[in-house]
Amino acid sequence: MDLRIFDSAAEIARAASEIFVQHIKKFPNACLGLATGASPLETYRCLIEDYQKGLVSFRQVRTFNLDEYCDLPEEDKNSYHSFMKDNLFSHIDISMENTHFPNGNAADMEAECKRYDQLILSSGGIDIQLLGIGVNGHIGFNEPSDVFSEGTNKVRLTESTIRSNKIYFQDGKMPTYAVTMGIGSIMNAKKIILLAIGEGKAEAIRRTVKGELTPNCPASILQKHPDATLLIDREAAKKL
Ligand code: PGA
Repeated sequence: MDLRIFDSAAEIARAASEIFVQHIKKFPNACLGLATGASPLETYRCLIEDYQKGLVSFRQVRTFNLDEYCDLPEEDKNSYHSFMKDNLFSHIDISMENTHFPNGNAADMEAECKRYDQLILSSGGIDIQLLGIGVNGHIGFNEPSDVFSEGTNKVRLTESTIRSNKIYFQDGKMPTYAVTMGIGSIMNAKKIILLAIGEGKAEAIRRTVKGELTPNCPASILQKHPDATLLIDREAAKKL
């Protein structure tokens, strides 16, 4: 793992966005794996800024988001569809038909998971996958478990994740299920960039970098990825 420690979230975002911009300049139809949550927000702001300055175009870029809540309409302001529109897609020149999500409201979830895996595969696979990390070591919504998941799957969210994400749901009613790319899908990405900001992530980062490789800390699988870069701040690095 390539571990880089920064003084601020702004520096992390600049470093992450530069990796994306350089790649898109070389490969205008790049296939990007995107994440939601607080961690990538600043990175998306940097990408928007670079687009506005004319430094990069997303016209041919294709994106696959990691996950989406189940039983929440796509148009809900807390859906990850809305998050991506609000924080990235509506500010850049990407074609919305090139943006993909797993459907958290599919009637046949097994078929939906297969469809998403197949679509990623037929798009040539993900070039760069952006990740946050949960305080419990989850990546995507792959929660601590006895086994590493393979492809896209439906998961029940843990109490820890519900506690972390509930702040976004003003009425306090947060979905308890989600559909997420699996650990196998994430590991298939050619390059992975994981962002971690703040002391709350320090234990998860310690377990990811120095702990045993175990599905009890899903992010520990990254020890095995040939091209995983961790961009973290000093607080998140406190336990290393
Ligand atoms: P955060 O979430 O970026 O909002 O901290 C990360 C995650 O839970 O994967």
